[in-house]
Amino acid sequence: MSSLAIKHGAINLGGGFTNFDGPEFVKEAAIQAIRDAKNQYALVCGVPEFNSAIAARFKKDTGLVLDPDKEVTVTSGCTEAIAATMLGLINPGDEVILFAPFYDSYEATLSVAGAKIKCITLRPPDFAVPIDELKSTISKNTRAILINTPHNPTGKMFTREKLSTIASFCIDNDVLFFTDEVYDKLAFEMDHISMASLPGMYEQTVTMNSLGKTFSLTGWKIGWAIAPPHLT
Ligand SMILES: Cc1ncc(COP(=O)(O)O)c(C=O)c1O
Repeated sequence: MSSLAIKHGAINLGGGFTNFDGPEFVKEAAIQAIRDAKNQYALVCGVPEFNSAIAARFKKDTGLVLDPDKEVTVTSGCTEAIAATMLGLINPGDEVILFAPFYDSYEATLSVAGAKIKCITLRPPDFAVPIDELKSTISKNTRAILINTPHNPTGKMFTREKLSTIASFCIDNDVLFFTDEVYDKLAFEMDHISMASLPGMYEQTVTMNSLGKTFSLTGWKIGWAIAPPHLT
């Protein structure tokens, strides 16, 4: 999509590019870390101080207390968190429900995992989730529902009320919930709500995020997944 957008001089609604550079204090911290010789292999799940910082941020945002070693996994951007989640938790033939339009990597990694994609289209003007359609799309083969809130490219945010309805479907049907929250800090008109913070949902939710959009440093590809130990 990005190559085509460059070729045709089109507005690129594929990836969420920021159009200004990241803040000096973040860049200086990275330069300092390199100078301090923090340049060797990390643990597979992440550098302990960073996992702890992610857990502290999640606690501030949701009130949930995480074990940074067992419930936080650092990835190469949210995109790797998405890929790892699909490949780790989706088996061939599992159905996964997506809401279109969606970030293009979902379909790619779900295809690699052999999932059957069930797509529900969100329509203007408010891009509301058609609850009846969602209810009838859930089957005994549904393994997961994936959302992105705040949403690229519409800016739609899932309200607590809508998330509660979807949560009840997940709990009743034993369906996992994957949530891509890379734009959570770019919410200006209402509060961002994490599905993991709704009653009963932490145990079946994978929350995926990254620092790219928040700090306007999309090339750094520093992301993570948060999930209970049995999903991690
Ligand atoms: C909804 C959504 N999720 C994830 C990403 C990618 O995040 P990362 O750069 O951390 O892999 C993007 C990038 O545009 C996006 O729009």
